[in-house]
Amino acid sequence: MELDPSKLEASERYRLLIGGIVPRPIAVVGSCDAQGANRNLAPFSFFNGLGSTPMSLLFCPANDDHGQEKDTLRNCKPRAEGGCGEFTVSVAAEPIIRQVVAAGADLPYGEDEFQRVGLNAAPSTRVSPPRVAESPLTFECVTRQVFRLNPGVAGGGNIVVGEVVWIHAADGVLDERGRINPAALAAVGRMGGLGYCRTTDRFELPWGLGAL
Ligand SMILES: Cc1cc2nc3c(=O)[nH]c(=O)nc-3n(C[C@H](O)[C@H](O)[C@H](O)COP(=O)(O)O)c2cc1C
Repeated sequence: MELDPSKLEASERYRLLIGGIVPRPIAVVGSCDAQGANRNLAPFSFFNGLGSTPMSLLFCPANDDHGQEKDTLRNCKPRAEGGCGEFTVSVAAEPIIRQVVAAGADLPYGEDEFQRVGLNAAPSTRVSPPRVAESPLTFECVTRQVFRLNPGVAGGGNIVVGEVVWIHAADGVLDERGRINPAALAAVGRMGGLGYCRTTDRFELPWGLGAL
């Protein structure tokens, strides 16, 4: 079957993206407004690492159904654009996955998802927005840039690029050589629809042609 995205409904394009690009890591993004108030928590699975020098990552809060910025983008965009210019990314781990998914509920701006879903907001070290205390790993980030692909249009994508300025790892997550123990992290991935996956089924391969 061949598909031309320009002939599909937006909902069909969305379904192909979230069903075909799997599994996706889930960023649990903590943010607040420029005054340090109106704290917010939401999950984003259009998320990945970007580079190690400087240490950077990205996530993608699409425009909402009215073409408006989601609360997270409104909060974490650069100060010059009216945001606080900072955010935290906590890993969505298995013990907190229900609360993480619940934080994706569309609550009015200013309603605190930390409180609403029962996750504790721990103070961050280098940035104003809090982080998820229960998460095994959090990256504190300064917003470097926001790319807007289709401003004002529902479903238009935005890329938030953040530089990692501090890292919190719970005891047992890093080994003595600074490597992350995936069993201790217990990250959950997002599949299509309402699907999620665990990271318990792992295997190793040698680098390059040795993998054949
Ligand atoms: C597991 C999960 C992953 C999600 N990933 C994204 C995403 O990558 N981009 C996006 O715009 N919305 C995503 N959502 C939906 C947002 O979390 C939802 O729109 C939320 O209300 C946004 O919150 P905010 O308005 O407080 O920023 C996801 C929801 C869930 C449950």
